[in-house]
Formats: sequence, structure tokens, C-alpha cells
Amino acid sequence: MLITWQESLLVGFEPIDREHGVLVSLINQLYDEVKEGADRKTIDETVFALADQVAAHFNHEDELMRANAYPDRSNHLLEHRKLIDQLDTLLDGMDLLTDQTLVDAIRFMDQWFTDHVINSDARLGGFLQKDAVSHAGVPAGAAGRTQ
Ligand SMILES: [Fe+2]
Ligand SMILES: [Fe+2]
Repeated sequence: MLITWQESLLVGFEPIDREHGVLVSLINQLYDEVKEGADRKTIDETVFALADQVAAHFNHEDELMRANAYPDRSNHLLEHRKLIDQLDTLLDGMDLLTDQTLVDAIRFMDQWFTDHVINSDARLGGFLQKDAVSHAGVPAGAAGRTQ
């Protein structure tokens, strides 16, 4: 395990926290698989699953930011872009992937995730806790507070 799921990672908006939990477990799963020398098919599947979940999560956050005219949306999207670029590089090089490339990518994702969630997503979470925000894409009754 690389990232410990802890209270400091909670942003206070349940749908986002739930999706972050999924991302953390996939990053940890990938880390464990590389460390334990899992076969390439297993590792590839985890990388693809992680890329899918990241894309879905970023789309969801963007829907929420757009629906609520979030003032810092453009900077937030620039930060998302850095992780998307990292994942794209990883996906483009899947045929020639080495353990070192994977370890470097996982370290980047770990650092990126922790920094982004504790700073930028926490600000977004605080904003979404205000009354009268639109919970775009969230099923009725599923939007709650986790802090
Ligand atoms: Fe974000
Ligand atoms: Fe996020």
C-alpha cells in the first residue's frame, strides 16, 4: 500500500470522497502489483481501470464546477490536465513499459493525488457544501457531507 486513506483526504462532499476512495485503492493496487511482480496483463488491466476512473472522476468534478460557476475552475482543470498527461504518456508507452517507468509514474500519481486533494479538491468540497449548489450528476439523495 502506498497511500493511506485518512481523514485529511476527505473534502467534505460525499460523492467526491467516494470517488477518491476508488482512485486511492486503484493506485495502491497498481503499486502492490508492480512491487509483487504481477504479470503484465494484470498490471495493464489496472492501468486501464485507473485511467477510466480518473477520466470519469474529472468529468464529474468538472460538471459540478460548471453547474455552480466555480470561480477557480480553469486552474483546477489545469491541475487535472497534469495527471491526464502523465496517464496518457503511460498508456502510449504500454508496449515498452519497464518497472522503473511504472514506479516513477506511480510516485508521480501519489504526490499529485495527495497535493491536489488536500488543496484544490478540499477547496472545491468546501464550496459544494454551501447551500443551493447544484449537485450535477449526483443521484437524488446521494449528495451528503462527510465532515
Ligand atoms: Fe480535482
Ligand atoms: Fe478529485
